Amino acid sequence: MPRNQITPMPPVAEGIGLPWDVPVVDAVAELAAARASYGDTFVVDSGRDRYLFTFTPTGVESFYRLPEAQASKGVADYLMLRRKLPDEIFDGRRTLPGTLFRKGDVASYLVNLELALDEEIRELGEAGSVDVFALTRRLGHRMGLSSWAGPGAANGETFEALVRAFDALDGADSFVHPDAMQAVADADYAHERMALARIVDLLSDAAGQSEGQVLFDRIMLAWADEPEAVRRTGVAHDVALIHIASMSNLASALGWALVDLIENPAALARVRAGDQEFAGRCALESVRLAQRSIMARTVLSPVTLDDGGTTYEVGPGTTIATLLPLTNRTPSLGHHTWDPDRWNRSRFIDTDGLGSPELVTSFGHGKHTCPAQPFSIAAMTMTMTKLVTTFDLAAGWSSYPVPVPAQIGGVARSDEVCPMDYRKLSSRT
Ligand code: HEM
Repeated sequence: MPRNQITPMPPVAEGIGLPWDVPVVDAVAELAAARASYGDTFVVDSGRDRYLFTFTPTGVESFYRLPEAQASKGVADYLMLRRKLPDEIFDGRRTLPGTLFRKGDVASYLVNLELALDEEIRELGEAGSVDVFALTRRLGHRMGLSSWAGPGAANGETFEALVRAFDALDGADSFVHPDAMQAVADADYAHERMALARIVDLLSDAAGQSEGQVLFDRIMLAWADEPEAVRRTGVAHDVALIHIASMSNLASALGWALVDLIENPAALARVRAGDQEFAGRCALESVRLAQRSIMARTVLSPVTLDDGGTTYEVGPGTTIATLLPLTNRTPSLGHHTWDPDRWNRSRFIDTDGLGSPELVTSFGHGKHTCPAQPFSIAAMTMTMTKLVTTFDLAAGWSSYPVPVPAQIGGVARSDEVCPMDYRKLSSRT
């Protein structure tokens, strides 16, 4: 079957492209408009790429069942991230983000989260104002780096320097600021390569202080048989890819969860009173509403996609996709508002009128469902509980924060600084 061929051919959306190829003000709004004009299954030809979007209940269910060998999430992710990350960070990796959740790992990450929280709370002091998303990002950096780069990387000047370097190398820019990716390519990743070299230096200095961090020990072991110079870069690149791939969505999700709790004082009081099960549902609900993910599968060999009305034969080269913000928050079903009672444990139960339960999700469906979901919910629950039991928190934002408009992928990043006022509960007069 010829490259990019789709039989029968669905309607092709005219005059739109995706934000890494053409200037787009609001990527999600453009695709919503295309859906309104062309129906629930349509094609977007953007740059040199062809995308087959589907939003029908059967189409989305078929999407989640596509076999990885023929329609690959791994390849789609790689094609996205390489817009920001130089190839050397992908080459020869021995410990991958998918191996972060073996038995015992989560417990060790949560211990590190507790330590990271203590440190951030100490830095915050008695009272003040802080950008919610900057705070949660620092927490993510500190917990992640102590878990997979050893405690030497999570404190003091080394930590501050690593944060700066990782912020420059942030792979999430490929979907949060897709409009900036042409400049990255034009500069041949110069900025990113400098940041990566800095990370290798900093991590090499911090190495050797493992103190029983299970994942860091596993990474070190994977390179133990190599000469010093190869080991140094190998370990650092493993750590860097894991850190980049794992933390930034969780950090943003935590930010939205705090914003939503502050906006809903009765819910905040319930979390403060220690209702962990409810806090977990609050976290799921905040993630659902903040989802901006393009779910994508790159077709490697011919595959069929049934959208309920038509079965399409899709040739290699095409990316089959759906977009969570268009299915997760349908206003006619009331799904655009925050309500943790829509969840029973980790199941979305407000499905009346929804064509398929798979149209709504926080962590995905099918084989590729996020392996980090239990950890992420536990981490969010722990952080929300710790912050609301330590501080009185108040909104410093004048209206509910909005996502970066060009963002297409991952959990929304706030377009603007989102100040939160805090005062230690014990220091209230
Ligand atoms: C609140 C935070 C997070 C959210 C909302 C989230 C969401 C998701 C979603 C929706 C998927 C499925 C994507 C698809 O089917 O195309 C996914 C997959 C994945 N996530 Fe997460 N995630 C989060 C945190 C993390 C963390 C902390 C890690 C750590 C490594 C992680 C690692 C992964 C991996 C490795 C996959 C791919 C699984 C596979 O292909 O089989 N995620 N995530």
